[in-house]
Amino acid sequence: MEKVTATNSDIEKAAGVLRAGGLVAFPTETVYGLGANAEDSAAVARVFQVKGRPPTHPLIVHIGGAEHLGEWVEDVPATARLLAERFWPGPLTLVLRRGGRVSLEATGGLETVAVRVPDHPVALALLSAFGGGVAGPSANRFGSVSPTTANDVRAELGDAVDFVLDGGPCEVGVESTIVDATGEIPSVLRPGGVTREDLEAVLGRRLAVHSTSRIRVPGQHPSHYAPRARVVLVEPEKVVTEAELAQELGHQVGVFLPPSFADAPVKAHAVVAVPDSMVAYARGLYGFLRELDQRGCDLIVASLPVEEGLGLAIANRLRRAAGPRPSE
Ligand code: TXA
Ligand code: MG
Repeated sequence: MEKVTATNSDIEKAAGVLRAGGLVAFPTETVYGLGANAEDSAAVARVFQVKGRPPTHPLIVHIGGAEHLGEWVEDVPATARLLAERFWPGPLTLVLRRGGRVSLEATGGLETVAVRVPDHPVALALLSAFGGGVAGPSANRFGSVSPTTANDVRAELGDAVDFVLDGGPCEVGVESTIVDATGEIPSVLRPGGVTREDLEAVLGRRLAVHSTSRIRVPGQHPSHYAPRARVVLVEPEKVVTEAELAQELGHQVGVFLPPSFADAPVKAHAVVAVPDSMVAYARGLYGFLRELDQRGCDLIVASLPVEEGLGLAIANRLRRAAGPRPSE
């Protein structure tokens, strides 16, 4: 049977691979990351190459604890300090002014750097054994669905990664919340595992939420977090009829059946019952998309959850999965 959790010797081996300039896929509480030594430009360049990611698209630097933050950033405003203390280790990434230690490749040449402390025992053990920062995006090819198990990573990247640390399935299931904390007033660049409501409660103020897609004009940015199957978003009460219509038209339709329609019979190729709880939905989201791909669906019909709490991050990923494809 397959081993689901990395041993101490696996962690030592992975730390050695990082020191030697290699790439290690590692579990976090959100999704699996594809890591390289954040101070090694050549190793970081390989991450971009393996992912097929444009070099201007910066990576997150993973560190072992908030006490190391000052080594990676130029200054830590009081707000950033507060957020780090309250949410680390955890699914929160802080964008701050770049310090000298991080390679410019990792930041895509920007004067800011994204940093987080992941809340996963295997990731923390790796960071502790390695001793430095690990620059890494999610361990998927650029634009596709993020991996939430070690098997997903192997299926995505195969031999292109030097070592895969298996930490079991990810608990949170969607990526970290990215907060721009460079200025006086922080803003959310990507909704994720820490909710806007949680951040607002700690900060005592409302937060602006911006999309991370730089081009906001619909139809101009390529899709992201996307399965092979095309994703179509409709109102919850139209999911069943739209799915059946598309199936009749000859599509192999996968359905994200909203909880309020859980008992509805659906004539489609494959059906996923969307969990009622947003925690369970976030945890399962990428696995559901992968499953419908594996079952041969060419079209997925889904609806958006209410955009509060984790529902904001789930809706963000579904919208981007439904975005136009680069070839279009
Ligand atoms: O949960 C996560 O955040 C996962 C795990 C592995 O930590 N990582 C992840 O990385 O989602 P990635 O590369 O797929 O997404 C990182 C995002 C990108 O959208 C990138 O544009 C943004 O972080 N980012 C990185 N540095 C930035 C910066 N200096 N300013 C603004 N955005 C930045
Ligand atoms: Mg990603």
